[in-house]
Amino acid sequence: MKPAILGGAPAVSSEKEELFHWPIVTQEDIDAVTEVLRAGTMSGTTITKEFERRFADFLGVRHALGFCNGTASLLAAMWACGVGMGDEIICPSMTYWASAAPALTLGAAVVFCDIHRETLCIDPDDIEHRINGRTRAIVVVHYAGRPAPMDRVMEIARRHGVRVIEDNSHAHGALYRGARTGAVGDIGAMSLMAGKGFPVGEGGIITTNDRTLYERCVAFAHYERTGAPSRFNPPDAQITDPELKTFAGIPLGAMKGRMNQTCSAMGLTQLKAFPRRMQDIQEGMNLFWEFLDGVPGLRPHRIPPDQGTMGAWYYPQGLYHAEELGGTTAEDFSRAVNAEGVRWCFPGGNSPLHLHPYFFQSDIFRTGKPTVQAFHRDFRRQNPGELPVSESIHEIALAVPWFKRPDRPEIRRYAEAFTKVAEHFHRLP
Ligand SMILES: Cc1ncc(COP(=O)(O)O)c(C=O)c1O
Repeated sequence: MKPAILGGAPAVSSEKEELFHWPIVTQEDIDAVTEVLRAGTMSGTTITKEFERRFADFLGVRHALGFCNGTASLLAAMWACGVGMGDEIICPSMTYWASAAPALTLGAAVVFCDIHRETLCIDPDDIEHRINGRTRAIVVVHYAGRPAPMDRVMEIARRHGVRVIEDNSHAHGALYRGARTGAVGDIGAMSLMAGKGFPVGEGGIITTNDRTLYERCVAFAHYERTGAPSRFNPPDAQITDPELKTFAGIPLGAMKGRMNQTCSAMGLTQLKAFPRRMQDIQEGMNLFWEFLDGVPGLRPHRIPPDQGTMGAWYYPQGLYHAEELGGTTAEDFSRAVNAEGVRWCFPGGNSPLHLHPYFFQSDIFRTGKPTVQAFHRDFRRQNPGELPVSESIHEIALAVPWFKRPDRPEIRRYAEAFTKVAEHFHRLP
């Protein structure tokens, strides 16, 4: 069949809304949120604590702490891990900025490392030579739902006495060798924003088995839980560390990280439906890749089933091999797929962060020098060409549709769009 871009009939003539609709909000969510509004308890913590308990159980960790967004949870996790002035964190360059940027707020610098071509996650072979006496933490991102190779990362981190923060914003519910992502490193931190795999609105959460890290996150951003006497709230001491207790009543991060309880209420209802929804997504996405099996130029970005699962497959990617398609760029390929009626297809990934001026030019503390140099005499900027896989991301990854339901006939039509384009690559404009 002729590709639509060459005048053929498009493979997808109309889009079924429910195939992609997200988040799925039911009457149960609406009732739960409305109840919070009626009671006026948006700024309370009772529902949030219930959500934290359930979320911690779901992930299989001892502690969870809700935040107003994922960025705030990452900042708290970094501080809890001891990241401070003159320190460094190691983070993959190809991720959303919030995996790395909070380090600068703490006066630290980010040393970026590369990703692996197959996993699109941190490349364990590119970590160790970047560790030095100032390295406090390695941030791992389970990119686009694909669990990163945690065994190797943990082994390297343990050997060097460095903490591991899992940015689990893309991989809620994913399994890595039998454990949920976000429960494998020292601490997990993640976004729960409306478009994410586990959506509550604007929200974030940290997850950990380490009581000290949990208490430090409380002390950093949850003054209402530090046990200070308050006219408005009953005493609520979730910190036991005597040093942290000294500051009870004022958050050490000078920020309020509290989650709005409309979000926690939605979190509780979403959590009940999540295993089933995740299952639907997994079936749908695996069907798509089954239909594309053997089609040149495109391979699934997913973890082998004997190692784990992809959770809710947030922002799914295909691994794109232009060399199998006569050098057709991901941009040209996507354009032809878009002409088939598939809106969600474009060169994938995020832009590499090490090339963004924020990380080497911004003077956040107004010292007259870039922040990364203000506390670091020998900070070295990373130049174009240094992290080749991250820098080629828009050529090696293709964003593909995120199916929320295993609708076989519909998904077949989407796969047909990609197949047609791949099979006629030599005729594409
Ligand atoms: C990988 C990653 N980390 C962190 C965040 C930040 O989360 P939030 O937007 O909830 O602050 C996001 C998403 O926005 C993300 O995709």
